[in-house]
Amino acid sequence: MAQGRRKLIAGNWKMNGLHQDGLDLARELSHRSVAAHRASGQHLPCDLLICPPATLLITLAEALTGAAILLGGQDCHAEVKGAHTGDLSAEMLRDAGCSHVIVGHSERRIDHGENDAIVHGKAAAAMRAGLVAVVCVGESEAERNAGRALDVVAGQLAGSIPDGMGAGTLVVAYEPVWAIGTGKTPTVADVAEMHAHIRNRLDGQVAAAEQLRILYGGSVKPSNAVELLAVDNVDGALVGGASLAASDFWDIARACR
Ligand code: PGA
Repeated sequence: MAQGRRKLIAGNWKMNGLHQDGLDLARELSHRSVAAHRASGQHLPCDLLICPPATLLITLAEALTGAAILLGGQDCHAEVKGAHTGDLSAEMLRDAGCSHVIVGHSERRIDHGENDAIVHGKAAAAMRAGLVAVVCVGESEAERNAGRALDVVAGQLAGSIPDGMGAGTLVVAYEPVWAIGTGKTPTVADVAEMHAHIRNRLDGQVAAAEQLRILYGGSVKPSNAVELLAVDNVDGALVGGASLAASDFWDIARACR
């Protein structure tokens, strides 16, 4: 179990959600959160974060006012502003109501050729803007089969995380590329090995690494959440597909202990 680390359940909606669907989903989560608090007098035993498409951020920031649900972006540019068509700065995300931003998701690394140096710049931008960077790392299936998973992730951590980060500015998400959207997950033993490895590698690289939250991501759903969230050094989940249904996302959050 985590040593005093409050878990974080983060929903990455990716490129899903038109205005009304997104609003309905966020409101449903907000209602559940308020109702649970009323019924038990207690909030969930975890923090909740949703990362919708950028088009929904301002609407959801307003809709979630007063709700215990955090808002994040899915990516940011390294610069504050300038001639970067189609991009958003970390400052813009903060201005839109975000507290977090995902950087280095494998879909960005693969679809947009983002390497560790680029992710490093984005994580630094998040810190500059006062956002928590959710830095994603994870090996491909070929790398795992070749026995290189631990080395690949160590390299990504070393290359993607700027100096000066700590538990207040950084969350790490371990997302094996082959587990994302596939229904496949690593064994509990493999998750435990990787999460312990990540914490070891970050000890010395970031301040107070024992307080850092390390999320697992890749095909997390209600049926496997209890098992995955009980693994040592798993301090929450980054959830893709299952974050698009309020009941599934809620059940994953309730799996936190
Ligand atoms: P998934 O996606 O839960 O749909 O596998 C996770 C992610 O990409 O963050």
